[in-house]
Amino acid sequence: MTRMPQQVKVLKKLLVKGFNVSPEALELLSDLDEKRLNEVLELLSKVNKTVIRPEDVIPLIEDKAKQSFREKQYSIPSRINNISVIKAPRELGVKGTVDEFVDMVRNRFEFLKSILIRKSEIDPIPIADLKVSTRRNGDRILIIGMVMEKRVFRDFSIRMVLDDETGSIPVIFKKNGRYWDKADKIPLDSVLAVKGTFLNGRVYAESLRIPDLEGSLVKPGSVKGKAVLISDTHIGSKYFNEKSFDMFIKWLNSDSVSDVRYIIICGDLVDGIGVYPSQEDELKIKDVYKQFGFAATFLERVPKSMKVIYIPGNHEPVRQAEPQPIIPSEYLDELLEVRPDLISLPNPSMIGIGDVRILLYHGRSLNAIFKHIPGLQPIRPETVVEAMTWMLKLRHLAPIYGEHPVSPEKKDWLLIDEVPHILHTGHIHVYGLGEYKGVKLVNSGTFENETPYIKSLGIEVTVGKVPVVDLGSLKVKIENFA
Ligand SMILES: [Fe+2]
Repeated sequence: MTRMPQQVKVLKKLLVKGFNVSPEALELLSDLDEKRLNEVLELLSKVNKTVIRPEDVIPLIEDKAKQSFREKQYSIPSRINNISVIKAPRELGVKGTVDEFVDMVRNRFEFLKSILIRKSEIDPIPIADLKVSTRRNGDRILIIGMVMEKRVFRDFSIRMVLDDETGSIPVIFKKNGRYWDKADKIPLDSVLAVKGTFLNGRVYAESLRIPDLEGSLVKPGSVKGKAVLISDTHIGSKYFNEKSFDMFIKWLNSDSVSDVRYIIICGDLVDGIGVYPSQEDELKIKDVYKQFGFAATFLERVPKSMKVIYIPGNHEPVRQAEPQPIIPSEYLDELLEVRPDLISLPNPSMIGIGDVRILLYHGRSLNAIFKHIPGLQPIRPETVVEAMTWMLKLRHLAPIYGEHPVSPEKKDWLLIDEVPHILHTGHIHVYGLGEYKGVKLVNSGTFENETPYIKSLGIEVTVGKVPVVDLGSLKVKIENFA
């Protein structure tokens, strides 16, 4: 029996009973055999709900073998031992309609606007109210909008088009104006508050504000232990620096290590397959299951007293659109065999160790940040940190839309709504260590030697530099395994 007729059959049964069902719940129900399905439907009929969702179905499925990745995705626990999962994208899955994109952008705009309103002394004016017919030239106004277009004119004045829920308006930053430099750096899709003067259907900007971090971050209490932050090992690649990674694992087992309790892997643990054209020419292990198997031989040697937390990157075998769900469990069999306590989470996720909040994001958006924000190139440890500060300033992990796939989920999971104590990224293969308004910024470099692609970009990779964070003091020390 093919899967589709089975889904249709289940759907009909549900409709007869007066239920609607989400596509994800339908998939779960379609995995059940006839007898089990009837039993579960019987139980569901006692639930007073019009729409059946995965969380209604999962508790009713007893057979653990059936509890696949999909189930795990919907039931990421909120606490795993002493690690709390503060934020992890759940219930992922969309049809990809325009309406869904509109909803996601609206979610993002409303949140960022609320921050800007809190910081404003006067109320913003809806952009639709700024009409030549109703406004006098010379009126001073505040608007909050998303940057939809940006151009620099020959006289170096900058023209942005700002959109809110009601309309759009051109905003001009004159070259000699105080905020020109700030405006020059603002990328598309940023949400801004602009104060200025209304003149002939335009706003001449006199100030510009971005959401940024609010107030000072409350310092965490004394949390015991250290966390080692790594990413981008690319196991399976010809360029994986096995010697360097082996040195790192040996170090974890040595007497010189004290109090390391957590190993955080921020994506690209394995090189994957089919990530880019002709990747197989650069693979030593051409089977992704075997890549995980090889990764398991290393993680097996990580002392059992250390908890391993792992999110996917763009090389893992999971959907590429962000937010990325957890890696399907079928790939993790060998890893879980050696480390049954492995904590697998989506990308991005925020965890709490004690009251230290750590935001984990693989960092794919860093490419777009480097490309579109003037003054960041070349990619070096200092500029990696600067690029990461833009995530905090614009309160979004992927502030520039359209450069890599993003899934239009109901909620914009890439918003930085809760401010972390540590922001951990990877992806760019250059380590970076810095701080912005009390938030530690750590990009964890790589264990992959320079690939032809990276070389073509002129990036000097930093292999085997591992940041170790003391969770009590939030001080970071870089250990070198090159
Ligand atoms: Fe990578």
